[in-house]
Amino acid sequence: MEVLGSILEAVGDTPLVRLTKVAGGVRATVLAKLEMLNPGGSVKDRIGLRMIEAAERQGLLRPGGTIVEPTSGNTGHGLAIAAAIHGYRCIFVMPDKMSQEKIALLRAYGAEVVITPTAVPPESPESYYRVADRLTEEIPGAFQPNQYFNAENPAAHYDTTGPEIWRQTDGRITALVVGVGTGGTITGTARYLKERNPDLLVVGADPEGSIYSGEVHPYLTEGIGEDFWPDTFDPSLVDRWVRVGDREAFRMARRITREEGILVGGSSGTAVVAAVEVARELGPDDVVVVILPDTGRNYLSKLYSDSWLLQYGLTDRPEVLRVEEVLQAKHGDMPSLVTVNAHEKVRQAIDVLQEYSISQAPVVREAGVDVTQFVGAVHENALLDRIFRDPDALQADVAEVMGPPIALVEFDEPIEVAFEALQHGPAVLVVKAGQALGVLTRSDLLEFLAHRRPA
Ligand SMILES: Cc1ncc(COP(=O)(O)O)c(C=O)c1O
Repeated sequence: MEVLGSILEAVGDTPLVRLTKVAGGVRATVLAKLEMLNPGGSVKDRIGLRMIEAAERQGLLRPGGTIVEPTSGNTGHGLAIAAAIHGYRCIFVMPDKMSQEKIALLRAYGAEVVITPTAVPPESPESYYRVADRLTEEIPGAFQPNQYFNAENPAAHYDTTGPEIWRQTDGRITALVVGVGTGGTITGTARYLKERNPDLLVVGADPEGSIYSGEVHPYLTEGIGEDFWPDTFDPSLVDRWVRVGDREAFRMARRITREEGILVGGSSGTAVVAAVEVARELGPDDVVVVILPDTGRNYLSKLYSDSWLLQYGLTDRPEVLRVEEVLQAKHGDMPSLVTVNAHEKVRQAIDVLQEYSISQAPVVREAGVDVTQFVGAVHENALLDRIFRDPDALQADVAEVMGPPIALVEFDEPIEVAFEALQHGPAVLVVKAGQALGVLTRSDLLEFLAHRRPA
């Protein structure tokens, strides 16, 4: 039987996949290492078990002990899986910018989650680092793996991620691109690979606002960039930094998902923007490996939510749609304007409605499109009501039974104006320079909205 002893054995050996669409027009080969395929959905599975087993060996963690860790979620997930199997209590401390999904997920494994404010310096007693330190001191038998200081973090990547990439590329990798959080991934992987090939170009992908590549200020990309220099990071291994803003990172993450079919988080967007920028300068023999650290499932209510992006000003306001576009989008052979003459008989008006399968029509005094001629409207509901009670009304003039004219909307008004008018009546007459262009109904607007391509 081909069976694993526990899910922990499923960590690592993630595939390397060529990026074709988002790296289009680039001569170098760009390969993505899919770390979201680890069982916990991120690169951090690689370090969770490693840090726990080392602590057990050193006697820092004993049966019944508690694991306390400041983490943005992914390390917590890796630790929670290992702790569930090894039977430890887990407390995770994280800043309040982290997504609800990440918090709920840790709680699903039975972990406790403590939330702290994001906008405080790391040395503040309220920062998630300091709160985690305090809990570790106060809880008997507590151990803090501390991914920012734990040498097992880069060592895990030196022992697994690096060798995997070397093997998977047959040693042909020429550039490695990694987003840097604790620096564990880039440090361990680059150290291994540079020992094999000292000419390897190592690129750090960094969010705008992180200390590694410039001025520090808040940003929204999760998991990478820092406001201090962790022990687990060896910056001497980085040959070049590429700084990427939230907007660009999220846009790229969404493209990777939609065009490559790989559901990724924001930090993967950062890394791929950097990889493509570097790859553009390289030749056809170059092989660029970019690490995609986590899954987009963690961010469905964030970067994959259009309203969230709008709220943070990370996407352009949707373009203004005009009433005329809705009219132009109407399908079929139907003329956009079907009218009934006020002097026609009701019976004829009904025939017109049936011929075009429409439920209403404007009534004109004289044939033509001049708006001054639009004196009323007939609607099948009103006609039925009238004829049911008085069959003789079929012989009446339309002028006798018609209702008030339908509301006018200028062709260049935003569709919100038509929407508002359609709240009060079933149709609107679209007008340009005093001439009627056509009728828009609720179902026309609905069909237009349903078939419009998303931005
Ligand atoms: C989503 C995400 N991407 C990238 C990283 C960076 O990895 P490392 O901490 O090894 O530098 C992290 C780390 O937390 C992460 O959560």
